[in-house]
Amino acid sequence: MSIRPVGITGLGMAVPERVLTNQDLERMVETSDEWIRTRTGIRERRIAGDDEASSDYAVRAARQAMAQAGVTPDDVDLIICATVTPDMPMPATAALVQAALGAHRAAAFDLSAACPGWIYAVVMAQQSIATGLYNCALVIGVELLSKMVNWQDRTTCVLFGDAAGAAVLQPVPEGRGILSSVLGAEGAGACHLYTPAGGSRRPASPETVEQGLHFVHMNGPEVFKFAVRVMNEATVQVVEKAGLTVGDIDLLVPHQANVRIIDSAVKRLGIPPERVVVNLDRYGNTSSASIPVALTEALAEGRVRDGDLVVCVSFGAGLVWGALALRWGR
Ligand code: ACO
Repeated sequence: MSIRPVGITGLGMAVPERVLTNQDLERMVETSDEWIRTRTGIRERRIAGDDEASSDYAVRAARQAMAQAGVTPDDVDLIICATVTPDMPMPATAALVQAALGAHRAAAFDLSAACPGWIYAVVMAQQSIATGLYNCALVIGVELLSKMVNWQDRTTCVLFGDAAGAAVLQPVPEGRGILSSVLGAEGAGACHLYTPAGGSRRPASPETVEQGLHFVHMNGPEVFKFAVRVMNEATVQVVEKAGLTVGDIDLLVPHQANVRIIDSAVKRLGIPPERVVVNLDRYGNTSSASIPVALTEALAEGRVRDGDLVVCVSFGAGLVWGALALRWGR
């Protein structure tokens, strides 16, 4: 079996029009713009409408990515949706996206790995294309976390936003595309970031709803410590696996959760700030959408050039992490 190089040939994103600022949040919970900005770097986030669901945004991001790649729905033979906020527990949001796009030839499934979900999904798609099983994959990261947070809990509701990001993956010329990847998990840390009810452990009931157990629960300081450690380690590991060094990185696209996490990891790694993408001030933490959205914007701003070494790195509930090293070009 021959192994083909695989890369990103198109990117797209979609965010809700409605902006929720820190000043708006000041009127909803006991918080301040100053606290949110200095503790997280977030100024505003986008919030979807009551009648909207993840697949609505996934489809828009996917159409943009397909247009950039120059592929039609008929070309797509695999769709993976990384999400922890599917339209419904069943069926997979990817199946709804497949129908909306008219990508009738495509296999479709969801992948649950929280914020690094898009990186996990890219690695799965890459392997499938590298071996010749599939030729053209849509890999989407989509979250409407606004629907899953408790808007009375100031320790979580100020952090998240809604968005979708999508990439088309296809074979690329030798020397381009994904050079290496790192995926990892420390399941013992599951208790630090989770949604207690609504699954098979505690099915939804009037009591679980009354107690708010279907909302996101988080131990912020523990996640923070974990994040700084794995962002650092995974970045070093992924470039070393590609036979390169941290100094070779042209652009780092870190998970957009908290600017203090990014600053701390980047400082330890010795990467100059101008080589790091930060857009969390405008979107907050959009979980699995965060990296494809940041990458889409970086490309549109001309920050990614042919031949650049781009590294994406993320962490999240699980606890899990993932990193990708890509030589940009198609
Ligand atoms: N406004 C004002 N005060 C607040 C707020 C708020 N929104 N939230 C918490 N506080 C208070 C706390 O109650 C606490 O008060 P106390 O000292 O009287 O008890 C104080 O601020 C400090 O709270 P800490 O939690 O220690 O604050 P910290 O500096 O750790 O910042 C934060 C909290 C921003 C959550 C940080 O820990 C963090 O970013 N952690 C990582 C979280 C993360 O990235 N999660 C997403 C993972 S991705 C995924 O899978 C979805």
